[in-house]
Amino acid sequence: MFKINENYLKLPGSYLFSTIGRKVEAYMEAHPDQSVIRLGIGDVTQPLAPAIIDALHLAVDEMAEAETFHGYAPDLGYEFLRRAMAEGDYQARGCEITADEVFISDGAKCDSGNIQEIFGTDNKIAVCDPVYPVYVDTNVMAGRAGTYDPAADTWSDVIYMPCTAKNNFVPELPKETPDLLYLCFPNNPTGSAITKAQLQEWVDYANKVGAVIIYDAAYEAYISEPGIPHTIYECEGARTCAIELRSFSKNAGFTGVRLGATIIPKDLKCGEITLHTLWARRHGTKYNGAPYIVQKAGEAVYSQAGKAQLAEQIAYYMKNARTIYQGLKDAGYQVSGGMNAPYIWLKTPGQMTSWEFFDFLLEHAQIVGTPGSGFGPSGEGYFRLTAFGSYENTVAAMERIRQI
Ligand SMILES: Cc1ncc(COP(=O)(O)O)c(C=O)c1O
Repeated sequence: MFKINENYLKLPGSYLFSTIGRKVEAYMEAHPDQSVIRLGIGDVTQPLAPAIIDALHLAVDEMAEAETFHGYAPDLGYEFLRRAMAEGDYQARGCEITADEVFISDGAKCDSGNIQEIFGTDNKIAVCDPVYPVYVDTNVMAGRAGTYDPAADTWSDVIYMPCTAKNNFVPELPKETPDLLYLCFPNNPTGSAITKAQLQEWVDYANKVGAVIIYDAAYEAYISEPGIPHTIYECEGARTCAIELRSFSKNAGFTGVRLGATIIPKDLKCGEITLHTLWARRHGTKYNGAPYIVQKAGEAVYSQAGKAQLAEQIAYYMKNARTIYQGLKDAGYQVSGGMNAPYIWLKTPGQMTSWEFFDFLLEHAQIVGTPGSGFGPSGEGYFRLTAFGSYENTVAAMERIRQI
């Protein structure tokens, strides 16, 4: 008789966004005349930029001719995109990353979930709390998280690094030594950023204790302040301890197009074994490459026109972020984030829990946000709003909040 992977049974409840979806649906059914503004899920709303659309059209036309048709893509990615990323994201910033250290994929969610496969199941992971849930859940599935404590909403074998107002939402080095450290900056959900000096401390720490940092840079494009690193490879020594995840979802609106990359420097080793070799083996075996058409669209992100158009798109979302930040401040809320990230993180008023505030906001202002507790125990008492809506809806939402 077959057996299932029982680790899946340890996963608690339903996914955060399904619960939100159900609640919103029930509210709308009961109040069909109300217009609900959704500032909850982190999905973009602006259409793809013209430079990307042009690249897609050209690539589609190439697929119509035998001479320019493309079948299976190289499983590690087309050289043109790996080179564009190595040059545009790294070498242009003085970071020593080469095209063959870039592995193209269909997005950072899969990569952030799959990367744990190349590590032993007895590795101890450390995560920020609150955290993007994929890091924890995929380690649960792999049997690396221990047992779940529903009262505390924690896993026995996971090291939690609280990110609260006290530490400006940047974690302190953990007391217990981890093997794998997940860091994401600019951060989802708190919208906080890390300075280069702070990140350098993490790199030094990881090199000292022999840990690997899995650095999720999905929101890099939203950095607006100086002194905030755009990649972990700006830090000295990162080549021997860090893997970086990149996504085209939030910088170029590819949430429905799907493209991402994982960077693994060849200096990152366990004894004589490079993680680069393991990931290449894994990718080659389990993945057949992101579509040619999509990789051509990704290349356009690095063109002059693409860069200019995407900068405008980011500016549009960041105007929303400022509107939300200021609107909440004016309404008397304690707010953070929104400066280098499209997320605004607010303290719920009084003693309200995150879910109580979710219901309150839906009921009284018809606004959907995300309860902070859905991202981990230290998210309790916080709430996330996103800047990915339309400007008009964002302004309307702040007006509604002002009036409650
Ligand atoms: C921190 C973080 N990493 C990764 C992702 C997923 O990115 P992608 O769309 O490339 O799979 C998200 C999406 O919201 C995210 O917030």
